[in-house]
Amino acid sequence: MSAATRATPTGIERPFALEEIIVSKTDLKGHITYANDIFVRVSGYEEHELIGQPHAVIRHPEMPRAVFKLLWDTVESGRELFAYVNNMARNGDHYWVLAHVTPSYDREGKIVGYHSNRRVPEKSALAKVIPLYDALRAAERRHSDRKDGLVASTAMLEGVLAQAGMSYHEWVWTL
Ligand SMILES: Cc1cc2nc3c(=O)[nH]c(=O)nc-3n(C[C@H](O)[C@H](O)[C@H](O)COP(=O)(O)O)c2cc1C
Repeated sequence: MSAATRATPTGIERPFALEEIIVSKTDLKGHITYANDIFVRVSGYEEHELIGQPHAVIRHPEMPRAVFKLLWDTVESGRELFAYVNNMARNGDHYWVLAHVTPSYDREGKIVGYHSNRRVPEKSALAKVIPLYDALRAAERRHSDRKDGLVASTAMLEGVLAQAGMSYHEWVWTL
């Protein structure tokens, strides 16, 4: 099933075990080049349906675009990032993860792709993340122009960080 023909969200959470790590690698454009067995099982796709697809194949429609902008801005500038992400399985079930996303480098120090490991997030962190992401998503939806929506939600996220007096990378560990 491609991103264009994806299911609608079921509202049902799909569990995975505390000791499990969902792993994927992508090329420079975010197309999946590797998916471990746990990713395959939890996402509900066959391995061959994931490889070569944009990582957005498991994007949940409720995820704010501001979070993915931050993710890409960070890893393209050569840094790593931790982020809470809600993903959508093939049948529309969802699963929250705490993702660690990093660039992969070649011997010359050039970025050749990206790598992500994901674990089960703490429920207490999700209790703070979900209302914030809902507010970011609502800010995005208030604008008919996608770009304006992204500017608005990014400004909202920056406002939250300014109020906390922290960088995103510090703030994510306070959740
Ligand atoms: C290594 C890596 C892992 C990613 N993992 C996910 C993921 O698990 N879920 C997700 O929705 N997007 C993930 N993304 C971000 C996607 O590339 C994409 O930006 C996001 O799904 C938003 O898609 P859209 O811009 O088409 O709306 C990942 C990106 C990279 C580089």
